Amino acid sequence: MRLKSNAVITGVGGFVPDNILNNSDLEKMVDTNSEWIVSRTGIKERRILNDPSLATSDMAAYAVKDLLKNAGLEPEEIDCLIIATSTPDHLLLSTASIVCDKLGLVNAWATDINAACSGFLYAYTMGASLVESNRYKKVIVVGADQNSAIINYEDRNTCILFGDGAGAVLLEPTTEDVGLIDSVFKTEGKGREHLLVPGGGSKIPATPDSVAQKLHYIRQDGRVVFKAAIKGMTETCTEVLKRNDLEINDIKWLIPHQANYRIIHAVGENLGLPEDRVKVNIERYGNTTAATIPLCIWDFKDDFKYNDNMIFTAFGAGFSWGATLLKWGKLRTV
Ligand code: UT7
Repeated sequence: MRLKSNAVITGVGGFVPDNILNNSDLEKMVDTNSEWIVSRTGIKERRILNDPSLATSDMAAYAVKDLLKNAGLEPEEIDCLIIATSTPDHLLLSTASIVCDKLGLVNAWATDINAACSGFLYAYTMGASLVESNRYKKVIVVGADQNSAIINYEDRNTCILFGDGAGAVLLEPTTEDVGLIDSVFKTEGKGREHLLVPGGGSKIPATPDSVAQKLHYIRQDGRVVFKAAIKGMTETCTEVLKRNDLEINDIKWLIPHQANYRIIHAVGENLGLPEDRVKVNIERYGNTTAATIPLCIWDFKDDFKYNDNMIFTAFGAGFSWGATLLKWGKLRTV
């Protein structure tokens, strides 16, 4: 009989493009000002992949390469690669298969999932389930998005928010009492009209008309999403705590999706968590969609100690949202 293992994060990697788009740059592009952007969103700058020869798979590959180096692993040791993205290189074929080729992950099977800003959260639980089943020993989960490819830089409602980046974690089995504990996920398809890219899929294939109507860019009803995000993340965090008999004081770190500092602050406040236990890097990267949580893990990993209880939480298009409870373990060292 095969006993169930816990799935723990043992490696971390990340990548953000060098090119910075700051608030003063945006002031020259649309009718906005830095003070408004900082006070309404907390964002000061974002990273933009501005080399036309590069795409989401390149950012994901850089993040996975960084992970492999940090963990002291060779590409052929990886069993599975899952990439959460809503900006794949191509519609028909997974970005993960491109990354396998670029890095020589010759023994990995690979696939993408799309749950927009909740993509990494969902992919992390799916990857952990593969490890817990004992079928796969080394699973890499990536969140990667090149939002600049689907942003209309004439639309001040969206262009100030989004940036590009990729983050990756390695999941491995352990018999220790650390790793993923539980996830509460929700999907409410009625919310889809409030945040989407209308064109380019099977419903509205690309035509000269769809391009003229700017249907290939992100559209968002910001206020609706804002309210739903605070409610959804607060409720799922509360539920995951309750069903595991934990109080908020048992949680050392909250790593929320970075869409708007006011959302992050409100969720922390609703949960009763002091600000210094809520991880925030939105001021440097903006909203990188599926990459926000793994980029936070990458940025703040040195703060996390063995046995720390943590919650990852996200809300995004779909609507899709949720909260995942875990205990931090130990990263591989070289
Ligand atoms: O990651 C996926 C989930 N996404 C989110 O969670 C994003 C959720 N939404 C938000 O973060 C916020 O709704 C926004 C940042 C998008 C907008 O902030 P807001 O505080 O909800 O602003 P608003 O849309 O209510 O607009 C307030 C005012 C309006 O002017 P009036 O009508 O009061 O005169 C807007 O026209 O601010 C104006 N405004 C701007 N002003 C300067 C809207 N965008 C801008 C801008 N610069 N970029």
